[in-house]
Amino acid sequence: MKQIKIGLLGMGNIGTGTYKTLEMNRARISANTGLDLVITKILEKDLARERDVTVTPEQFTQEPADILEAPDIDIVIELLGGIEPATGFMLTAMHNGKHVVTANKAAVAANYDRLMGAARANRVLFRFEASVGGGIPILNALTSPLLANEYEEIRGILNGTTNYILTMMAERGMSYEDALKSAQAQGFAEADPTADVEGHDVANKLSILISLAFGKRVPPGDIPTAGITGITMRDIEKAAADGGKLKLIALAKKAGDDLEYGVKPTFVANDHPLAGVNNEFNAIFVKGNAVGELMFYGKGAGPLPTGSAVMGDVIEIARAISL
Ligand code: HSE
Repeated sequence: MKQIKIGLLGMGNIGTGTYKTLEMNRARISANTGLDLVITKILEKDLARERDVTVTPEQFTQEPADILEAPDIDIVIELLGGIEPATGFMLTAMHNGKHVVTANKAAVAANYDRLMGAARANRVLFRFEASVGGGIPILNALTSPLLANEYEEIRGILNGTTNYILTMMAERGMSYEDALKSAQAQGFAEADPTADVEGHDVANKLSILISLAFGKRVPPGDIPTAGITGITMRDIEKAAADGGKLKLIALAKKAGDDLEYGVKPTFVANDHPLAGVNNEFNAIFVKGNAVGELMFYGKGAGPLPTGSAVMGDVIEIARAISL
C-alpha cells in the first residue's frame, strides 16, 4: 500500500484531536483510499502532556526543518495557531513542494493572498476547512457543490467558546468566568481566549468566508466587530423575557453592488433556528440565488470535530497526489 508521510506542526488540543482521528479510523481510511497515511514527525515542545494516543519519542522534534525540509514528507499540517511563525512555516513548506493543511484562521485571514499565491506558485495544494466552523464542511460546500450559485448572504454562529458561554449563562445561570473556564478545559477556546470573547476569532472566520463566497478580500481588522465581554446576566435575562436569546452573530450580505458585514451580539427570537444552536455548536445559513436557503450545523470547536475536518483535507490531498 502506498504510504503518504505527514509532518505535524503542533500537538496541542487540535493536533492531538487530529492524531486521534487518524489513529481511531486508520483501518477505515486505508480501506477507503488504498493509502497508508502516517504522521512521521511532530514539532512540539511539550512532551510531558498526557495525550491518550500512541506516539513515540522519536516522532517528536523541536526543529522545524525536520519537517519543512524533510524530502520524504508529502503533507504538512499546521496547528500551531497564531499568525507567526505559522505563516512563515506554511510558506516554507509550500516553497519546498509540500502540500499544506491548516486549521489556523488567524493566519489564513491575515495572509490569505500570500498563502493562496504561494500554493499556486509552487503548484501545491492548500486547504483550511477546519479554520471555519470546526467539523462543519462549510468551505468545501461553498467552493464545490454550491459553486453554481451567486451567494447573497451568509449568517451564523461561528465561535464555539462564546456560544458555550452564552448557553451556560442563559440555561444554567453560570457566571461568565466559570463558563469561560469550562470552555477552556474542554479545548474549545483559543490559547488566548481574548480572541474568542472579543469577537476577533469570528472576524477571522468571516473574512475567510467572504473571500471564498464573495471573492472579495476584507481583512478581519476592517470588519466591524463586537464580542461578548460587555454582556451581563441582566442582558441575558432581558432577552429571555423578550422571548429570545443573545447570540454572537456574523453576517455578510449583498446590498446592491456592496457587501455589508459585521460581527456582534444579536437578539435571536426563540422561534428562529439559530436560537436552538447551543453549547459549542455552530450554525451557518447560506443563501444562494439558485439553491435558496441552506443551514449547516455541527460542532464548531473541540479536538475531535476539528481533527475530523483537518484529516478530511489531508485525505483529499493524499488522494489527489496519488492519482
Ligand atoms: N476557539 C474557537 C472556537 C475554536 O471556540 O470556536 C474553533 O475555531
